Amino acid sequence: MSLPNPPSPRRLSVAPMMDWTDRHCRYFHRLISRRTWLYTEMVTTGALLFGDVARHLAFTAEEAPVALQLGGSEPDDLARAAKLGEQWGYDEINLNCGCPSERVQRGAFGACLMNEPALVADCVRAMRDAVSVPVTVKHRIGVDAMEDYAFVRDFVGTIAEAGCEVFIVHARNAILKGLSPKENREIPPLKYEYAYRLKRDFPALEIIINGGIKTLDEAQLHLEHVDGVMLGREAYHNPFVLADVDARFYGGEAAKTREEVEAALIDYCAAELARGTFLGAVTRHALGLYRGVAGARGWRRVLSDNKRLAKGELSIFDEARSYLREPSEIID
Ligand SMILES: Cc1cc2nc3c(=O)[nH]c(=O)nc-3n(C[C@H](O)[C@H](O)[C@H](O)COP(=O)(O)O)c2cc1C
Repeated sequence: MSLPNPPSPRRLSVAPMMDWTDRHCRYFHRLISRRTWLYTEMVTTGALLFGDVARHLAFTAEEAPVALQLGGSEPDDLARAAKLGEQWGYDEINLNCGCPSERVQRGAFGACLMNEPALVADCVRAMRDAVSVPVTVKHRIGVDAMEDYAFVRDFVGTIAEAGCEVFIVHARNAILKGLSPKENREIPPLKYEYAYRLKRDFPALEIIINGGIKTLDEAQLHLEHVDGVMLGREAYHNPFVLADVDARFYGGEAAKTREEVEAALIDYCAAELARGTFLGAVTRHALGLYRGVAGARGWRRVLSDNKRLAKGELSIFDEARSYLREPSEIID
């Protein structure tokens, strides 16, 4: 089935993940795929308007394209935060309407915003007035016991009227009471059909599907129904899943090898060490690079040894590599 829109630059993206998709993680993902669209961790408007802006927003040009995800529910604050994001060079500003954590609910943003579509529309309008990069929304398909497709359809319809053209649909409900954020990513059932229906009902909008997707073959099947696929946990734990993305979805370069990625990672580690960064702050995001390769466990163990990492010696990679065996040997 051919889609009416031109191909989205978000055909394949890596999800915003708190504590995970920091700038080191994004740089590492970028070494594997030039074209995958990357997201920051969620940054709250409070952190930007009253905190250390550079700490939250600084990133390197090599990471681009990168979208900044914001958490908040005050249109003026979001507009100011979005403006900062644009000034710092982000390619998209995304509003979080999908996070179910208690802390986020106390701040009255995240998934509970799905119950207030008019407010989200105001937020989107204010952000769009403040910036010229795309303003997008990431959301769930329902909240608590609300199972009707009409709920998410009306939510998307209202926000689209405010000018939002891109919706990232984590295709399960958010349960605001009784489930932890982790359980909220596992227990509510996935309903991909809701995302497909959104695309059918709003063909002019860009609909990105998210939740439980693990392979590029699966992604390809989803792309018959929607404009883009967002990978979260799989991209983090098994980052080499991104290796074929450029060639397969963007007509770009063939995949690098794991060894080429590792060599580039070591260069990056050298640069970060020179800036005083703790080596483990970088390597912790790369521990899955050799997932599925014989000896991967040894590689991972060496590169997560904080005592050794604290010495800041790049020779740690040589030792880690000594655990990797030929592919013909038994897989860990
Ligand atoms: C550790 C972790 C942190 C997350 N933090 C955020 C976040 O800051 N903002 C957000 O919109 N979603 C967040 N999520 C949800 C992911 O973006 C994604 O929607 C979810 O993991 C489902 O996709 P997956 O099944 O491919 O992992 C987080 C998920 C994880 C595992």
